Amino acid sequence: MADVFEVLGRDHTEVKRMLAELEAGSSRAVPDREDRLRLRKKMVEELIIEESKHEAVEEEYFWPAVRRLVPDGELLADEAVGQEQAAKHVLNDLLGKDPTDGGFEELLTRFTADGREHIEFEEVQVWPKLRVVITADEAEELGRKLEQGKKTAPTRPHPHTPPKPGVLRSAGPAVAAADRLRDRMTGRGQE
Ligand SMILES: [Fe+2]
Ligand SMILES: [Fe+2]
Repeated sequence: MADVFEVLGRDHTEVKRMLAELEAGSSRAVPDREDRLRLRKKMVEELIIEESKHEAVEEEYFWPAVRRLVPDGELLADEAVGQEQAAKHVLNDLLGKDPTDGGFEELLTRFTADGREHIEFEEVQVWPKLRVVITADEAEELGRKLEQGKKTAPTRPHPHTPPKPGVLRSAGPAVAAADRLRDRMTGRGQE
């Protein structure tokens, strides 16, 4: 079974792949191709969905584990959750914008830089410290919770919801269900 590092690592790889793909096909390069612009909007939608689910389950399960197990876990988690909140505001501004709208490419460029930095912070500053203190059983259990949690996690950023695990547990399912209903109605995130 996949442990916490494999589960989060897979998500990080996928997000980095999406960012590289978006970077390669900036809408400025193809301003007049409607299908390209539609595809770009769709790719950003998928990025927002993936990123929202990922950060939501990190908040719910990963950061509490870091705070509990890692000696300077509180500091590391505060720093990372701050980065995640800032990114949610950027993604929330991107939500609903079209690639031809003013600010779209600027917001995406900002998210790309911040998102990569955030992933590196987690993988370089946090993971090695957690690896030292977490047992194999705990790492697997945490991986299972993250995988399960992603199935019902919110698909939008919700920057105004406090990033506290308890809040997500109580408000999360209703918010996530509302997100998914809206996604179904608008065809968001679907082929
Ligand atoms: Fe994160
Ligand atoms: Fe992450």
